[in-house]
Amino acid sequence: MNTTITISDNNDDTNYGPYPSDLTNARLKFSGLIDFDNLHNYASQSIPTYINKDNTLNNSITDHGATLGRILFYDKELSINRSISCGSCHQQAFGFSDLSIQSDGVKGGKTGRHSMRLINTRFADEENFFWNERAASLEIQTTMPIQDHAEMGFSGTNGNPDLNDLLSRLDSIDYYKELFTWVYGDSTATEERLQYALAQFVRSIQSFDSKFDQGLASAGNLNQNFTNYTAAENQGKTLFLLPPNQDGAGCQGCHRGPEFDIDPASQNNGITSSIGGGSDYTNTRAPSLRDLFNSNGVLNGPLMHNGDFSTLEEVIDHYNQITIDPANPNLDRRLTSPPGPGPGGPQGQNLNLTAAEKSALVAFIRTLSGADVYANEKWSDPF
Ligand code: HEC
Ligand code: HEC
Repeated sequence: MNTTITISDNNDDTNYGPYPSDLTNARLKFSGLIDFDNLHNYASQSIPTYINKDNTLNNSITDHGATLGRILFYDKELSINRSISCGSCHQQAFGFSDLSIQSDGVKGGKTGRHSMRLINTRFADEENFFWNERAASLEIQTTMPIQDHAEMGFSGTNGNPDLNDLLSRLDSIDYYKELFTWVYGDSTATEERLQYALAQFVRSIQSFDSKFDQGLASAGNLNQNFTNYTAAENQGKTLFLLPPNQDGAGCQGCHRGPEFDIDPASQNNGITSSIGGGSDYTNTRAPSLRDLFNSNGVLNGPLMHNGDFSTLEEVIDHYNQITIDPANPNLDRRLTSPPGPGPGGPQGQNLNLTAAEKSALVAFIRTLSGADVYANEKWSDPF
């Protein structure tokens, strides 16, 4: 598997154009849906000053790069039989996730894990992507679903076409000839160019208009009670932030606000069954815990890599009382009590949360959702 990506133009966005290009076919194709003379703002969106984590390496967002990324993200041409796009499994209305536990891919294929929300993926220390962190960067991640036999199908196995066949297909589409020229200076589609553009679009998807953001902006400190919160929301925030040995629920140890990104050192959380049966101890990443619910308060799909939980209450019950599976070599020690192996082996943590504390935690996590990201045209399907 790839571990590095060669990027020729370190931090030099001028290499991403825009270059002179006759966009006649692109203008026709996306007429009324994309205004190429007045692009959406992807590159200079406002980011709260308390957000400091950023996993961008050398592929800074440009408006034209992210616009090409948006088109690629929603284009079914990226699947072998033109039936599936990234947006089929990553739906804007659900935080760029999917309500089904397993998403549908090409030719009756199903994903082996649950689709992940793609909100604020940029604002995290963890640079590895997927539940089990098998992609070493977001750039590398973006062309993996295209080559997955069950997802978009350009696998090169069992007589199926491979990525080079997709690149030839894109080279023959007029609007891509124009758009690749516009962004990269010539019309050739390459894997690297797909990766840059798709990663720019995905990194641009941000959500900072939540009740939590309003509260933090005015309090100036995560640990202060927020004046815009109910008593229950403030109680839930305190429980989230404090470790178990201070009567908290310890969530902040791994899902670190204000980004709510996963601690890169996290091991698994005891959710270890695979969708098809059997065990999977490798899942040590979670998307940001922001926007678990959409702006209508609806959960953005089932939770965890295997979609085991259909409510946040079930998730909290799981953490409240962790059951030790002796076969799990990789349970994070922070979820054992006392942390680390005790006499006779570690015990799973028992937080002893009351019903009121559990609903306070839920009330707090519900404040982490925004509204703009679900409706903003810049992240919507242009086809
Ligand atoms: C058939 C459904 C499907 C399609 C199509 C699909 N994805 Fe995904 N995506 C998933 C699933 C399922 C996961 C989690 C897989 C895993 O971890 O094993 C995922 C994970 C991801 C992640 C990792 C997020 C994180 O926080 O680690 C990114 C980024 C992503 N997809 C982007 C894309 C892009 C870009 C495309 C199009 C080129 C795409 N996906 C196409 C289902 C899909
Ligand atoms: C030791 C680290 C750790 C701690 C502590 C922790 N989590 Fe997690 N959490 C994870 C990992 C790892 C995953 C991904 C697990 C998987 O899907 O297999 C996860 C997944 C989740 C998910 C599902 C996310 C999704 O997109 O489906 C929710 C919700 C969640 N945790 C909430 C909490 C809450 C609430 C607390 C505190 C009570 C908490 N977590 C404490 C590590 C942790």
